[in-house]
Amino acid sequence: MQLSLTQPSSWILLLLVVTSLLLWKNVASVPMCAMRNARCFTFFEDTFELAGSLSHNISIEVSELFTDFENHYAKVPGLRDKSLMRCHTSFLSTPENKEQARHTHYEALLKSADMILDVWESPLNDLVSELSTIKNVPDTIISKATDIKKKINAVQKGVNSLISSMLQNGDEEKKNPAWSRLPLLQSNNEDAHIRSLYGMISCLDNDFKKVDIYLNVLKCYMLKIDNC
Ligand SMILES: *[C@@H]1O[C@H](CO)[C@@H](O)[C@H](O)[C@H]1NC(C)=O
Repeated sequence: MQLSLTQPSSWILLLLVVTSLLLWKNVASVPMCAMRNARCFTFFEDTFELAGSLSHNISIEVSELFTDFENHYAKVPGLRDKSLMRCHTSFLSTPENKEQARHTHYEALLKSADMILDVWESPLNDLVSELSTIKNVPDTIISKATDIKKKINAVQKGVNSLISSMLQNGDEEKKNPAWSRLPLLQSNNEDAHIRSLYGMISCLDNDFKKVDIYLNVLKCYMLKIDNC
């Protein structure tokens, strides 16, 4: 890692990470490192550890949401019609799988995770609010989606603070295309509406499997864990 604590600026960067970590869990009482399993974790390591763990949990929860939704609306005609599905993130060129992620430089990997999180920020809000408007939607689907959104926001904060402290130009203005609502989301046809939400959840599922892979490959790399 480029960071050395002998540089005064590193302390400022470290503080940034600490500040963000406080949003994740209470580490205020731990000045230098956090003891876990008789090991002293630095704040960087801790942030990577948390980002990996949380993104893995989110990826599982998104898959559950997808399955719940699919089972509940199985009778909607054309629900699984793949030709109707197009992900708004398909233009991003990011590593496709673990093998590719392992061969990607850590900076690029962190940026890839950040890009995916970024392009989902506003669609995710739409998804959660639209879900609550469909007919007979089970409470479990709404609460799962709301929980996912909350956790994704936390991962995004963690990844942002890692980016701004580790990468040069980490704060440069982001150039992601603005998200426009999918036309189908505004459809008055209930079945079409359900199909478009199903498509979005399917995209979120794919994309979050990637974020999970990236952040856990990074965690392995940063924490020097073998065989993972
Ligand atoms: C992820 O889930 C596991 C198992 O439920 C839990 O122990 C862990 O604390 C979760 N990780 C985070 C960062 O919330």
